[in-house]
Amino acid sequence: NNFCVIMAGGVGSRFWPLSRTARPKQFLDILGTGKTFIQQAYERFQEIVPKENYLVVTNALYKDLVKTQLPELKDEQILLEPLRRNTAPCLAYAANKIALTDPDANIIITPSDHFILKEEEFKKQIRNGLEFVSEKPALLTLGIKPCRPETGYGYIQVKRKKEFKDLDNLYKVKTFTEKPNEEMAKIFIESGEFYWNSGIFISSLSTMLESLQQHLTEIALKFEHGRKLLNTASEEPFIRKTYSECQAISIDYGIMEKAKNVYVLTADFGWSDLGTWSSLYENKEKDVQGNVIRADNVMLYDTENCIVDISKNKMAVIQGLDGFIIAERNDTLMICRREDEDQIKKFVTDVRIQK
Ligand code: GDD
Ligand code: MG
Repeated sequence: NNFCVIMAGGVGSRFWPLSRTARPKQFLDILGTGKTFIQQAYERFQEIVPKENYLVVTNALYKDLVKTQLPELKDEQILLEPLRRNTAPCLAYAANKIALTDPDANIIITPSDHFILKEEEFKKQIRNGLEFVSEKPALLTLGIKPCRPETGYGYIQVKRKKEFKDLDNLYKVKTFTEKPNEEMAKIFIESGEFYWNSGIFISSLSTMLESLQQHLTEIALKFEHGRKLLNTASEEPFIRKTYSECQAISIDYGIMEKAKNVYVLTADFGWSDLGTWSSLYENKEKDVQGNVIRADNVMLYDTENCIVDISKNKMAVIQGLDGFIIAERNDTLMICRREDEDQIKKFVTDVRIQK
């Protein structure tokens, strides 16, 4: 049986002031499609995963957001984390939960904050991936052809030799490097041997549990020892204690960089992390002056190459700006040069301290 684990506990501070701790990116409809990112992630696997086989792992803070945005989920399908420990403990929790009901499962682990344009192509790749991992003890990821030396992604180097006759976009992975510095990222891109990690992993449950044991032994054992407590009244105290003792580490650093049995399906399904204002700018239609406008009441004079994101009940009049992000929500207005958006994380911290 196929299971889908949606990881939805991140904070996503780069979209501030739209995203904030109380409502991170996965719960927003940044593109204005009518659906939030997590709703899109959920619908994406509907034809592949039965409704009862979804698990959403999120911070306890977001329980109500998940319930409102995904009303089909039963309470027991929402796994609540008491603390932020990044994605490896999130995976260990979900995998052990699934092991109780279906040890022979195949699992898809997906982020909750991505945009995918070509849904049909995406589903085709997921189906191929599931078929592959049910025959081979592999950790499979979906790889994207890179187009810029982005430092926020994982980079996958492939072995060029074709090992698999029936899937011509499937490669054995030679190296996996999570978030390289810019210099390395440039070298990777120029070599032509690298793909971006999309952050979507597919594997059999048993292979995933073995990989956790092998590479993150401490975390794996904590969850395995307490597995019998899951689905009982002791689950919550057990999880609270375990999380407080767990190292915070991502699947990428903790497993993918170390494992030997990593494979990648390379594909073009119009993937975008949309992790930043700039990536949003690139993905949206612009007016003749190159402005992306997400507001009902705005008047622009002599203004170009800006993103203007203003809430509905406000009126904005802007004159003489070129290349700025102008974003307003609730009590906050931010005006920041597009090329300096790396600083937004710092703004968020500083504002928190001020308040
Ligand atoms: N449950 C839970 N708990 N989910 C979490 C946590 C946590 O503590 N931290 C992050 N997540 C969720 C996020 O909400 C997101 O959906 C997903 O896990 C990935 O986390 P990010 O924090 O967005 O990771 P990243 O973007 O820096 O890097 C990952 O994604 C890139 C592609 O977007 C890596 O997998 C990279 O290798 C990859 O290139
Ligand atoms: Mg991300």
